[in-house]
Amino acid sequence: MFCIYPTPSAIAQDLSHALLALIQRKPQAILGLATGSTMEPVYAAWLTAIKAQGVDITGITTFNLDEYIGLTAQHPQSYHYYMRQHLFSALEQMGLPPQQCHLPDGSIPQLELAQECAHYSAHIQKLGGLDFQLLGIGSNGHIGFNEPGTPWDSRTHVVALTERTRQDNGRFFDQPEEIPSHAITMGMADILEAKTIALVITGAHKAEVVAQLYASPPDIAMPASVLKTHSDIRVYVDEAAASALPEAVRRRCRLPNLHQAA
Ligand code: GLP
Repeated sequence: MFCIYPTPSAIAQDLSHALLALIQRKPQAILGLATGSTMEPVYAAWLTAIKAQGVDITGITTFNLDEYIGLTAQHPQSYHYYMRQHLFSALEQMGLPPQQCHLPDGSIPQLELAQECAHYSAHIQKLGGLDFQLLGIGSNGHIGFNEPGTPWDSRTHVVALTERTRQDNGRFFDQPEEIPSHAITMGMADILEAKTIALVITGAHKAEVVAQLYASPPDIAMPASVLKTHSDIRVYVDEAAASALPEAVRRRCRLPNLHQAA
């Protein structure tokens, strides 16, 4: 399940090939997408590979994991904005209709949020579920914005962000009071139902959470650990993020030894 790559860019290359292979096999693939700094090299490599290989991406449909509540799509810290900047504008130029790219809408009136959440999970299910889910991880083990304690069977829901998550993500906001207190996130069940899951963890600042994830049995106190129950999950870790794993595990999980990865 854990695979250690030399660099974030090696991870991005491998993942972009996996995504392209999926689209070639299934042109109408349903992809679950993530945001965060970790995904930037992944999307850059994917776009380069799509262009280089001339793959037709016009049939795919995408669903993002999450969005802040209270930010409009035009707000530079909204995930709508991030996705346009790092992926969707380029995919649109290659012919992908914008109506095939979905994110939860965090800018709607509070009274409509419950309906938006129910509709989001139902929409994914109606299209047959996610073929592939890309995930990053928060320093407290959250996936999407499923904070510690989120039930395994949760669907898209409104979440109150923990102080730790607000601090982690606060680096992108000018003023602390601008950091949203709530978000909409796909639930644990929506994620776990994806046919294939790729969890990407890079950088020395994630070494501690990688070690915790490795050691933890599936437990909602560490949301990413629940992914261990999935039959097709790979955790893509770079050397820096793997640095707190036991040496024997690191040796076993490095790329040339992948056939015997833990
Ligand atoms: C946010 C997102 C997560 C993402 C996490 C890590 O909290 N909701 O989906 O995994 O940030 O982001 P980064 O890659 O910037 O460390």
